[in-house]
Amino acid sequence: MTHTCEASLSFLLLLICCHVLRFSTAVDFISSTQYLQDPESITSDGGVFRMGFFTPNGSSNRYVGIWYDGYHVFTPVWVANRENPITDSSGTVAISEDGNLVVRDGKKEVLWSTNVTSSGQGSVTAQLLGSGNLILLKSNSSRTNSSGEVMWESFQHVTDSYLAKMNLSTNVRTNQRLTFTSWKSPSDPSPGAFSLGLVPQNIPEVFIWNGTNPYWRSGPWNGQIFIGIPTMLSNYLNGFTLLDNKEGTFSLTYTYAWPFIVYYVLIPNGTFLCLYWDDEKQDRAIYWHSHATECDTYGKCGPFGLCDQLKSPICSCPRGFMPRNQEEWGRGNWSGGCVRKTSLNCEKLIINGTRMSEKDGFLRLQRMKVPDSADWSATTGDECASRCLVNCSCKLMLMILELVV
Ligand SMILES: *[C@@H]1O[C@H](CO)[C@@H](O)[C@H](O)[C@H]1NC(C)=O
Ligand SMILES: *[C@@H]1O[C@H](CO)[C@@H](O)[C@H](O)[C@H]1NC(C)=O
Ligand SMILES: *[C@@H]1O[C@H](CO)[C@@H](O)[C@H](O)[C@H]1NC(C)=O
Ligand SMILES: *[C@@H]1O[C@H](CO)[C@@H](O)[C@H](O)[C@H]1NC(C)=O
Ligand SMILES: *[C@@H]1O[C@H](CO)[C@@H](O)[C@H](O)[C@H]1NC(C)=O
Ligand SMILES: *[C@@H]1O[C@H](CO)[C@@H](O)[C@H](O)[C@H]1NC(C)=O
Ligand SMILES: *[C@@H]1O[C@H](CO)[C@@H](O)[C@H](O)[C@H]1NC(C)=O
Ligand SMILES: *[C@@H]1O[C@H](CO)[C@@H](O)[C@H](O)[C@H]1NC(C)=O
Ligand SMILES: *[C@@H]1O[C@H](CO)[C@@H](O)[C@H](O)[C@H]1NC(C)=O
Repeated sequence: MTHTCEASLSFLLLLICCHVLRFSTAVDFISSTQYLQDPESITSDGGVFRMGFFTPNGSSNRYVGIWYDGYHVFTPVWVANRENPITDSSGTVAISEDGNLVVRDGKKEVLWSTNVTSSGQGSVTAQLLGSGNLILLKSNSSRTNSSGEVMWESFQHVTDSYLAKMNLSTNVRTNQRLTFTSWKSPSDPSPGAFSLGLVPQNIPEVFIWNGTNPYWRSGPWNGQIFIGIPTMLSNYLNGFTLLDNKEGTFSLTYTYAWPFIVYYVLIPNGTFLCLYWDDEKQDRAIYWHSHATECDTYGKCGPFGLCDQLKSPICSCPRGFMPRNQEEWGRGNWSGGCVRKTSLNCEKLIINGTRMSEKDGFLRLQRMKVPDSADWSATTGDECASRCLVNCSCKLMLMILELVV
């Protein structure tokens, strides 16, 4: 009798204990009455992401961020106060009086804020969604009313990681662009030299910049893949979608239903990686790498230069072209690129005002990225070629394809 009673009593205690534990770990929001004090954290619904305080390896600073929960390898995907670290463990994350989510140090000084101005009544909460998106929500009723107004979201204030369902977008009218910025180093989340964004001019293309200089590009979008990433179609089963909202905004998203680590990140050396969780190795592994070869570096062989990783030297000029600067080229400085040995008839035609009898021709080159300034033409190859031959601005567009005979 006593025995049974004891047993059920301890069962009851266990239940209560678990319930308390669940409550303190499974909360996914911060409200005006419930804030986070280092080292507390919140977990997204479904438990994939966690938001809280962390210290990068090799640093003693504290940062507020979001990471994949439940792995022994720490994988931060977003950082709030990347430029203003907390120097001790007295930090807090709270909803401030003005309705912003703020990170404060122990002296109550604001180190980071969502910085939105809001008017009118309503209670504000910050919620970590299952996708890893942290939203600042204003609603007149409870936080469960999802029709509240989203004031701010981390998916529109990204750091270095591109997660499924994020809109990598650019508005060509306002020139507003969602930009990923690398960490300065693995121990310092502050903005590094490299950034990544979508450039929709002519044909949409993804660029990585080193400062303001292009460092890598995906090649244009052909409707299904970026042509500079030939493996994209077969490998990316979950698919990318490029949306044109017809109001100037282009946005690139991908979906991934897997609850394990799968995301893109721009690492401090300027490489864009797709990482996934390798269950066998029990570690993150690289699925795709923007700089698989030296030829992936933007402009490696200069204008009109051809790059082939399997050749030595890797740079060469197409038939009918020669290095712009022979001496530098010979030294392995290919930045000057190649120039035509003979000018095109098109140019002579314009200057002399008469049609020339000789004809320019085309050289077929494979596995090339078309130039940045490429334009789209919905014609057949032959029609495109004949139109191009008489159009002087066209020769620039098809520069890698054409050649003086
Ligand atoms: C620090 O490095 C160790 C060993 O490589 C790793 O297990 C841990 O997750 C890292 N921690 C952070 C915060 O990066
Ligand atoms: C918030 O706005 C202030 C003033 O406009 C600016 O100095 C500060 O950098 C902003 N903070 C963030 C996190 O954007
Ligand atoms: C949720 O809030 C909106 C306005 O904030 C209101 O229009 C709507 O009726 C509310 N829905 C529920 C179920 O309370
Ligand atoms: C991304 O864009 C789609 C389509 O425009 C929109 O429905 C969705 O809410 C956007 N997501 C975010 C996180 O902005
Ligand atoms: C990035 O740019 C800086 C400054 O121009 C340069 O020193 C550095 O070598 C560049 N890095 C790469 C990887 O090209
Ligand atoms: C950048 O880092 C990645 C991952 O560690 C590495 O594979 C790649 O070779 C590095 N790239 C350069 C240019 O150093
Ligand atoms: C490479 O050559 C170009 C001229 O083609 C020159 O302007 C540049 O300074 C050279 N760079 C180096 C590192 O020598
Ligand atoms: C015009 O064409 C003639 C050949 O018919 C050529 O010799 C001359 O250089 C051309 N003029 C110019 C300015 O290129
Ligand atoms: C030449 O090509 C440019 C760029 O596609 C185009 O804007 C222009 O209309 C073309 N000119 C002629 C005469 O077809």
